[in-house]
Amino acid sequence: MLIELKALCRTYHSRDKGNCVEALKNVNLSVEQGEYLSITGASGSGKSTLMNILGLLDTPDSGSYCFDGNDITQLTDKEISRIRNQSIGFVFQSFNLIPSLTTLENVALPLEYRGVSRTARAEKAKKALELVGLSSRLFHKPSELSGGQQQRVAIARAIASRPPLILADEPCGNLDSKSGGEIMDMLKTLNQSGHTVILITHDSKAARQADRMIRVEDGRVSDYGTA
Ligand SMILES: Nc1ncnc2c1ncn2[C@@H]1O[C@H](COP(=O)(O)OP(=O)(O)OP(=O)(O)O)[C@@H](O)[C@H]1O
Ligand SMILES: [Mg+2]
Repeated sequence: MLIELKALCRTYHSRDKGNCVEALKNVNLSVEQGEYLSITGASGSGKSTLMNILGLLDTPDSGSYCFDGNDITQLTDKEISRIRNQSIGFVFQSFNLIPSLTTLENVALPLEYRGVSRTARAEKAKKALELVGLSSRLFHKPSELSGGQQQRVAIARAIASRPPLILADEPCGNLDSKSGGEIMDMLKTLNQSGHTVILITHDSKAARQADRMIRVEDGRVSDYGTA
């Protein structure tokens, strides 16, 4: 099992004690290596909170999270960062590219954090950009690319180090339906080539592309069916 959450809770505490938000309530969830899982749910239901915890960007208040055999609640921040850097690629709705860097530099940057040598970085980044069809845009800045192209750069960045898990939070939210469809095809292809993919989406058609769908409702997770 790649991911195992048990009785997991996450509450956002505010200074005003009456205003705590129980964003995740007693969540149990398992994801197998190589699976394609989609997560749907209304705005504010807790999807991004769940994704942040799955992606090791946030920690639960209670319950357990086992990632690839590691009990996350027992690890130091440094150990958690190392696992995140090595094992997880992120794709967000707002592409989160660095405006002053070129396409190639944006994709190569996380590899630098992983200690990959300069020449190997350029090679891996070029290969990832080739996979998303952007070999002809290596030296463009994000502002010189279309939205769909920027999201393809973000996907290349997520996959350049071949992380076992890809987490995508509304990756098509800012795209027209044609570019969105291309991104969805890419996620499917990545899954077929062995990556575990977790997709958060409002779009029920996109969600059905996954092997398994879960739904978040007011902080609770329920199984929603298999494709
Ligand atoms: N940093 C925070 N501090 C306090 N409350 C928060 C914080 N982040 C989220 N929340 C609250 O937690 C709940 C879940 O938010 P979350 O962002 O996980 O929803 P979501 O399902 O991703 O919604 P959307 O579809 O709009 O992105 C919401 O009620 C939200 O207001
Ligand atoms: Mg969200």
